Amino acid sequence: MAMIINTVEGLTKIAQGVRADGKTIGLVPTMGALHEGHLSLIRRARAENDVVFVSIFVNPVQFNNKEDLVKYPRTLENDVALIGDYADFIFAPTVEEVFPTPPEEEYDFGPVANVMEGAARPGHFNGVGVIVGRLFRWVNPHKSYFGEKDYQQIAVIRELVRIGNYGTEIIPCPIVREPNGLAMSSRNRRLTPEEFETAAQIHQILLKSTEIEGDVPEVKAFVEEAIAQVPAFTLDYFEMADDTTLQTVHSFSEAKGVMGFITVYIGAVRLIDNIRYR
Ligand code: PAJ
Repeated sequence: MAMIINTVEGLTKIAQGVRADGKTIGLVPTMGALHEGHLSLIRRARAENDVVFVSIFVNPVQFNNKEDLVKYPRTLENDVALIGDYADFIFAPTVEEVFPTPPEEEYDFGPVANVMEGAARPGHFNGVGVIVGRLFRWVNPHKSYFGEKDYQQIAVIRELVRIGNYGTEIIPCPIVREPNGLAMSSRNRRLTPEEFETAAQIHQILLKSTEIEGDVPEVKAFVEEAIAQVPAFTLDYFEMADDTTLQTVHSFSEAKGVMGFITVYIGAVRLIDNIRYR
């Protein structure tokens, strides 16, 4: 079983000791309510490092919606059991431990953070940068693992590493899906069984959209219409963007890699997903 650490002092001491022993460290930051998506990151970290740290912390400063923060599932005991031996250390601090005083870090991540999730959720990426930056400083991992479900988050974290000059390698990991295609998410627990089935259409629609003959406007129109036809869905945005700069493209010829990024509400639950076109 992994050892649970609750204090920053304990975390930094243990991580420094591991480094001093010449061992490599893999870090997997999470907000808990773990599912196979998280576990895929943790297993990969296990395979690629001597020692694995998982953090479980529902980071209040990245929630721009109070209700979302209050309703975020917290399942620490179950998470610890799921992690089992895949990690050596689980950092599960209180909010007061991480933020004894309100954090004052203000990052400028540039254009990657101003579009899509950055535009829809003011302050969100700064809050992500605040916690992940602190984890990088406390743990000083050789490698850190992030899921492509939050594709834009990875671009922001890369900027964070550049700005903070952190010596960690960012390892992006593929999206893990439910058998029906829905991207696994802790927030899926808030869906009714019916909504859970309906939500699978997000991925199905995106998959179909990769077969549309035409350029970006045709693909966009297809996705927007298909989503509009599902009464339970409210589209927040669907954007097609350069896979590196995250800036909108109007034609496939504008970027080497083009991806589609979608955010859909089902009731009060906000789900995100993405797909690669080129
Ligand atoms: P959380 O939503 O708990 O996700 C933790 C990590 O698991 C992220 O890197 C996320 O992209 C990845 N992940 C979630 N669902 C996944 C799926 N279905 N397939 C693959 N990977 C998946 O993202 C956060 O927490 C926070 O913003 C955090 C980085 C921990 C900072 O607080």
